[in-house]
Amino acid sequence: MDELRPATSAALGRVVSVARPGYQARLIATIRRGLGDTVQKWLPAALFYDDTGSELFEAITRQPEYYPTRTEAALLTAHAAEVLALARPHRIVEFGSGSSAKTRLLFDAYPDKLGPRHYMPIDISESMLRHTADALITAYPGMSVQGLAGDYDEALAVLPRAADSLVLFLGSSLGNFRPDEQATFFTRLTNRMGSGSHLLLGIDRSDHGGKPVERIRRAYDDAAGVTAAFNLNMLRRLNREFGANFDLAAWAHRAVYNAAARQIEMHLVSRGPQTVTVTALSTDFRFRRDDSIRTEISRKFSLARMTDWLRTFGFAAVRVWTDPAGLYGLLLLRRE
Ligand code: AVJ
Repeated sequence: MDELRPATSAALGRVVSVARPGYQARLIATIRRGLGDTVQKWLPAALFYDDTGSELFEAITRQPEYYPTRTEAALLTAHAAEVLALARPHRIVEFGSGSSAKTRLLFDAYPDKLGPRHYMPIDISESMLRHTADALITAYPGMSVQGLAGDYDEALAVLPRAADSLVLFLGSSLGNFRPDEQATFFTRLTNRMGSGSHLLLGIDRSDHGGKPVERIRRAYDDAAGVTAAFNLNMLRRLNREFGANFDLAAWAHRAVYNAAARQIEMHLVSRGPQTVTVTALSTDFRFRRDDSIRTEISRKFSLARMTDWLRTFGFAAVRVWTDPAGLYGLLLLRRE
């Protein structure tokens, strides 16, 4: 990581951007493909996380219906000491760290609540990352924090290959990936991880095993409308950053659970016929009433299938924890 260290900085909390040149151009190309899809229009879920979107997501995690975060936090609280005893990490790397609120549960399980020697949070939101890194070096003065601002691929390319590492991928963020993207991610991750290092994976479970389908769906359609605001914020971002003219009042939030595919699908539904211009694409898009843009897929998982599948990437299950209601799973895996 030395090549990423600013030569003049003595501070412990550092954030470097690992964004590759052309990120914005690729994003524009992706938006063009998504809005041009004649079967089902879509937008990439990564677009949610501008500053407002990152804050709205934090607000979602506090909603009574959104059980994944608090269930995962309860599992971390209950099992943090065991995770540390099994993995013995000196370095913690975290994909999609956000506020790192749940990560602190692990830090506080270290002797004297000192945390690991090194912490590397990775997040797409650079401002969120700076905020988090600053707060962490104050709370854990002995810990070095090296934040990577960028997407997962960009971060994977510069990951340190250390055997004493614990990689965190929490919050069921894996659920945003298609199966082929999950496979690509685990292949790259396994290649970057030293043998004997560990992965702690948090995943939301599917309805198989008796979990009520409506419980899953309501987590994405809370009564206070925070998820709806989060979803609509994507249009506000398109207006601001890509010169679009979406009228937010003309769109409705919808979340459906697709039981066959075991996934939540979030959409923005056009309340009537309308034409939207996206200046960055120099293109108009026409929508009929009830036409929708799919903004997110959140896949749900089987714990048994996941542990079996991860074995094909060289990850052996060390321990699998679930909550009493069986809503959520926490998997500790060892890179063989
Ligand atoms: C951060 C992707 C795990 O899918 O549950 C929450 C995002 N979207 N509510 C999820 C989200 C709507 C969240 N992940």
